[in-house]
Amino acid sequence: MAQLLVASNRGPLSFTETPDGELEAQRGGGGLVSGLMQMGGGDKALWVCAALSDADRAAARRAGAGRLDLDGHDTGGAAVRMLDIDPATFQRAYNAIANSTLWFVHHLLYATPISPAFDQHFRREWASYQEYNRAFAEALAEDAADDARVLVQDYHLTLAPRMLRELRPDVRIAHFSHTPWAPPDYFRLLPNDVAAETLLGVLGADHAGFHSGRWARAFADCCVEVLGATTDGTSVTHEGHTTHLGVHPLGVDAEALRERAAEPDVLARRGALLSNLGDRKAIIRVDRTELSKNIGRGLLAYRELLRRFPEWRGKVVHIASAYPSRHDLPEYREYTGSVQRLANEIEDEFGTPDWRPIVLHVTDDYARSLALYLVGDVLLVNPVRDGMNLVAKEVPVLSEKGCVVVLSREAGAADELGADSLLVNPFDISGTAEALDAALRMPDDERLARTTRLAAASERLPPAQWLKNQVEALG
Ligand code: G6P
Repeated sequence: MAQLLVASNRGPLSFTETPDGELEAQRGGGGLVSGLMQMGGGDKALWVCAALSDADRAAARRAGAGRLDLDGHDTGGAAVRMLDIDPATFQRAYNAIANSTLWFVHHLLYATPISPAFDQHFRREWASYQEYNRAFAEALAEDAADDARVLVQDYHLTLAPRMLRELRPDVRIAHFSHTPWAPPDYFRLLPNDVAAETLLGVLGADHAGFHSGRWARAFADCCVEVLGATTDGTSVTHEGHTTHLGVHPLGVDAEALRERAAEPDVLARRGALLSNLGDRKAIIRVDRTELSKNIGRGLLAYRELLRRFPEWRGKVVHIASAYPSRHDLPEYREYTGSVQRLANEIEDEFGTPDWRPIVLHVTDDYARSLALYLVGDVLLVNPVRDGMNLVAKEVPVLSEKGCVVVLSREAGAADELGADSLLVNPFDISGTAEALDAALRMPDDERLARTTRLAAASERLPPAQWLKNQVEALG
């Protein structure tokens, strides 16, 4: 039985099947995984996650209801239980509800004249989301020791806290939202019962954590408007149960990041980048190709910069690394296509035989991204909305000569980085172009001083401490 449990959709390991039928484990990707890796706690800690692929399912079946064979991999000291959820149920819960509904609601991504449209299909998908959450709640209930502490992560698992509380009233439960939370008017796009069930699910926890006070307030406002709950700003009370609200803005593990950036693969890419750039300045961006990241308007702003401030032509290169994400969803595939088309238009309009104004990478290469962090002059982070945005925190930590951060005011990171970034409204293309111009013109000493302060702010709550704070919030 575990004293400390974490539940998240994506786990610390993913599996692939080799041609001779063996299962091979790799470390799972993403920021959430690196944060939770710091759990520690030896055999008293358990990480419960979902099998995401056929190979994962095979590994999960091999372990039964037991622990995975970690195959020598480091999981931050935790044992891992991977849930073999029926693939169709998983797809509906993950793609249709988590990524196409809750993600869209919290990031305000719907084009409301046509979507969302909640019909019979949606009801089936919602039933799968309930089933998926129930599978987690049951596994956690089985494996939690008396009075254990359970940390449930993100929008995939909003219903699990309440389900778990019903099964195991003795355990202490925290939920953490890595996304923003929608304001009430937008949240109420969801059918009434679904909106209520989602909020009640999170309120099953003793502690609800967010990256920004803004998202915590939006959550409390939704509870008041949809459920008639009461709030004093630091907690929400409904039907006799109080859930405390916590703001835990995840920061960067600077030491680990610097070590990784000193590896030969990063340094080789850094050298190539610098020789390609020559004396040109680099405006960089690194994102998953994700609708909320607003890559399209970022490219439009760059185009406007080159049109309105022609003195930058030939003197700057925009290097955009937009690596693939969630390609099972047609909206994401179309989005990648539209980003590529826009980049080609910019190349056609401004490119010359000796100047490529834009370099767009659509494949993932972490070492190349880190090389960009080291040498970029200006970083553009302009999401429509973002729970936190760790790239905005990682770049100042690694930047060699200082990098100006042009940052969306709608990113959670703006709370801590706003004072030393150039804040933009992500919908204002002209405003973003002007911020890029100001960033390129910023004197070296000011750029460096700002970067130093940004790096200090970014390191304030490293993942280990972030996790510890949530555990401690449970008493
Ligand atoms: C981003 C979000 C997290 C989320 C993750 C899921 O990193 O910030 O809130 O958990 O995406 O991504 P996935 O690739 O697992 O769908």
